[in-house]
Amino acid sequence: MKLLTLSKLESFIRPYIVSLPPHFVISQYSRARIKLIKKLNEDEIPEEIFHPPIEYHRKLWGLTFRSPIMNAAGMFKNCEWYEHSYRQGAGAYLGGTSTINWRIGNNGQGILQPFVPYPKSNCASNFLGLPNDGDFINSNRLEKIIKYENFPVGWSLSASSDLHAFDWLKLFTSSLKMYEKAGVDFIEINESCPNISQNKEYNSLEYRLKFIKENFLDQITRNLPVIVKFSNDTQKEQIPFLMDLLFKLGYDGVNFGNTSTNYLEIRKKIHHAERKLFDYFTKTFGGGVSGKVLKAKSLEICSSAVEYLNHGKPSQEFHVIRTGGIESLDDIKESEKAGISLNQCFTGYWENFSKYGHNVYRQFFRS
Ligand SMILES: Cc1cc2nc3c(=O)[nH]c(=O)nc-3n(C[C@H](O)[C@H](O)[C@H](O)COP(=O)(O)O)c2cc1C
Repeated sequence: MKLLTLSKLESFIRPYIVSLPPHFVISQYSRARIKLIKKLNEDEIPEEIFHPPIEYHRKLWGLTFRSPIMNAAGMFKNCEWYEHSYRQGAGAYLGGTSTINWRIGNNGQGILQPFVPYPKSNCASNFLGLPNDGDFINSNRLEKIIKYENFPVGWSLSASSDLHAFDWLKLFTSSLKMYEKAGVDFIEINESCPNISQNKEYNSLEYRLKFIKENFLDQITRNLPVIVKFSNDTQKEQIPFLMDLLFKLGYDGVNFGNTSTNYLEIRKKIHHAERKLFDYFTKTFGGGVSGKVLKAKSLEICSSAVEYLNHGKPSQEFHVIRTGGIESLDDIKESEKAGISLNQCFTGYWENFSKYGHNVYRQFFRS
């Protein structure tokens, strides 16, 4: 069955399935999600190519993004759907998050890569734990598939929590070099995955970012913007510290952000019919929450970052990127009003895909 047919069918029955016993729902969805991801590259390539109108093109760091909307990290962890993304009219393509080593992802209560949607609330929970094929395989794959001009390719990387005992920061910089060699146009450092034990207990954020600057940023001899992705749970009060750190160390942008673990606040926005499932998931696995519940927070935190940037720009070109709850042209307009340069979407993308199929980006500019 075609992915689109499957997706439409699934979105139709989804509101009924999620009222079944939570453990059953989560195990079915987690299994189905893994199967679906495996099918991505077998899916037939859309015949039509949608080129976003020229007025939506955005020039950032000397790169032409075809529009201010693209996929968020985690959708194409192993280089899936480059061609599909181009044909659908994505502003750019972002692969990963990957790690130096192959990872199977988290297993909890006998469920591999726990995931569940909350369709009435337009959001989802995941406790995937960065499953991916590893940086050797992915950087090699990527090098072979990049082919379009003016369709920037980014890659998201994270240090691997499996390698605490090793010189993991050195390994991380060797991963960065692999993607530089593979020809990526920009890099996103994932400093915010809630589903792995980060190496934070070893060194501070400042130490990590400084190490990467000295061992990677300072050695790059071509245009290769590097941005850092933080959580949507970042507090406004943390903005000056984070921005000053990125400015000082020569990073090129910031992304707010990743999924939330602020379950108490988020729960208030979950549809009452889905609270039992939400409570079960967050109590059993924890995980990060994505989707509409992040819309206001991602706008608020990114607007604060832009305000801070406008009060004193660094010498390098620096951009604020918004991720969280993006699903329509109105969201992009809100971002543009606030001075946000680029938007990424994940949960809203798949929601829209089930309605519009490969017109998923085209519909942004119709609504
Ligand atoms: C199933 C799933 C897997 C994800 N994997 C990653 C990942 O590998 N790296 C990352 O930076 N963010 C990951 N995210 C977070 C998204 O990139 C995004 O920041 C978050 O979902 C908020 O955007 P949304 O509201 O549009 O979904 C993942 C999200 C989901 C739902």
